Amino acid sequence: MSNEVIAIASDHGGFDLKELLKADLEEMGYGIVDLGCHDNSSVNYPDYANKMAAALLNDTAKRGVLICGSGIGISIAANRHAHIRAALVHDGLTAKLSREHNDANVLVLGGRTTGIEVAKDCLKIFLDTKFEGGRHQTRIDIMS
Ligand code: RB5
Repeated sequence: MSNEVIAIASDHGGFDLKELLKADLEEMGYGIVDLGCHDNSSVNYPDYANKMAAALLNDTAKRGVLICGSGIGISIAANRHAHIRAALVHDGLTAKLSREHNDANVLVLGGRTTGIEVAKDCLKIFLDTKFEGGRHQTRIDIMS
């Protein structure tokens, strides 16, 4: 169980996966802030990346999950914000490395490219894996 709140957002291409992962987060004992979208109607992914950026900036949550069809557009949009390190991952290994090496604070998934079981695996690993610091912190500092 955890008292941590996880922010989650998607466009229409990620909506179905977002709903499935919300159930998974609940099962793991996390609080959830759902920043939308709220159905399959067509929306613009940068708006949801911007909502995530605002939620992390005002401390609504410390970590988040973003999903669009491929994961590409929403990660590009999210990484325009200096306080976001959004990592588009495709499997458990990339999810693990996104935390250990990159201290990613936003997990990004493709709703049309990643199956539910792999996505659940990525989510759990992302949430459970610690940043290694050291030389990886030096590299992150260069980006700030
Ligand atoms: C929406 O059709 C789609 O372009 C979007 O979800 C995403 O894949 C963009 O990168």
